[in-house]
Amino acid sequence: MTKKLGVAIVGCGFMGRRHMLGFNALHKAGKLSGEIVALLDINAETANKLADETFALMGVKPKVYTNIDDLLQDDRVEALDIVTDPRTHHIIAIKAMEAGRHVLCEKPLALTMKTGRIMVAAAERTGMVLGTAENYRRGGANRVAKAVIDSGMLGKLHLMLEFWAGGDDKVIISKWRHMKDTGAIGLDMSIHYADIIEYYVGPVERVWGRGIIAEPTRVTADGSETITPTGEDALFASMQTKAGIDVQYTYLPSGLGKRYQQRSLHGTKGSMTVPPDRSDGDVIVYLGDRELKGGELIAELEALGAFININDVTKAVLGADGTGGKGAAWADVDAGYLAVEIADFIEAVQSNRAPEVDGMGGLRALAVVYAILESGHAKREVSVAEILDGRLHAYQDEIDTAIETFNG
Ligand SMILES: NC(=O)c1ccc[n+]([C@@H]2O[C@H](COP(=O)([O-])OP(=O)(O)OC[C@H]3O[C@@H](n4cnc5c(N)ncnc54)[C@H](O)[C@@H]3O)[C@@H](O)[C@H]2O)c1
Repeated sequence: MTKKLGVAIVGCGFMGRRHMLGFNALHKAGKLSGEIVALLDINAETANKLADETFALMGVKPKVYTNIDDLLQDDRVEALDIVTDPRTHHIIAIKAMEAGRHVLCEKPLALTMKTGRIMVAAAERTGMVLGTAENYRRGGANRVAKAVIDSGMLGKLHLMLEFWAGGDDKVIISKWRHMKDTGAIGLDMSIHYADIIEYYVGPVERVWGRGIIAEPTRVTADGSETITPTGEDALFASMQTKAGIDVQYTYLPSGLGKRYQQRSLHGTKGSMTVPPDRSDGDVIVYLGDRELKGGELIAELEALGAFININDVTKAVLGADGTGGKGAAWADVDAGYLAVEIADFIEAVQSNRAPEVDGMGGLRALAVVYAILESGHAKREVSVAEILDGRLHAYQDEIDTAIETFNG
């Protein structure tokens, strides 16, 4: 049996705890080939609380650290699972890779292209595995949708629609998610959708779009504080992919009333709607008068010889169809998606292969999002290539300066 990979979760806040629950989902399913040997947070109380919860769930108490240099002295730590806020990702990841540790890093891979590029370069230089923790694509619905696209069932694809409109003026999760210098929610959420777009229809080449601050003030959930966001909460774009498919993109978490969400694909032979991520809705394919979903859709895919990427780990944590099943608790489904991405990373390290979403995958998603923001700033259509290679960066300059000041 392969030795369990010693992992340290770095950042034990809102998402760090969810990562621990992802490890626990694997543990419960008998599929955990790693072990949380350490936790690091600059806030000792936060880390200690998570260490206690880890012990209660998995029976092993990780060692708690509050300093990265001390953590990297610990020989049991073979890989870092970075779940801190984005402006710190590159600092921690590069230090870890240079100290011979593999890294799984939460999205966005980095806060800017400049900091993301040096992470990818560090992975190449050190030979360590760098994975991007991108969870949305891991669910059964996205796996089936991808199989439908690859099978050619929809004919020649013309259009993908990725649309979210509706929300309110409440602070979304945390205050740092509304500031340009720390990673505003428009970027924070759009990075997921950029990954889904490239997963479905391949590399995006050209982008025309912009970001706006739709809610000029936001109120904390308990109503005690009002903040003035400095970063865009909403992004709009028209994109073209390398394969010649058009993508219409909207993320607007503002506007009371009904929230509209749509992920759909439109081709010459049919169309497909995909339910919201982590929901228990069905992928539905419309072929003329035929409407295919559930077992009927799977049978059609199998008849076409299509590959559906629902592996054994996914089945163990999310059931046969990889969705968690009808009526499953959101927290269980969320932990299941995270379990799949964590298991993929551990297997990548243990078998010396690239993870499903590697550093470059995370960097490309970031480039698509920055293509929207740079396009709005430059008031012209931009190519993803000029964002990736650093020719266009004017929108990001202020953030890079703030990151340098913050990290000293
Ligand atoms: N994939 C998803 O669905 C999803 C959901 C939420 C958050 N995220 C991502 O997870 C990351 C963390 O988000 P969050 O909501 O948990 O933030 P958070 O603010 O709740 O937690 C961040 C934690 O990191 C700690 N921290 C900050 N700097 C540190 C450092 N240098 N060393 C060690 N610890 C440090 C903080 O003390 C805090 O406990 C972000 O990149 C975010 O985009 C992803």
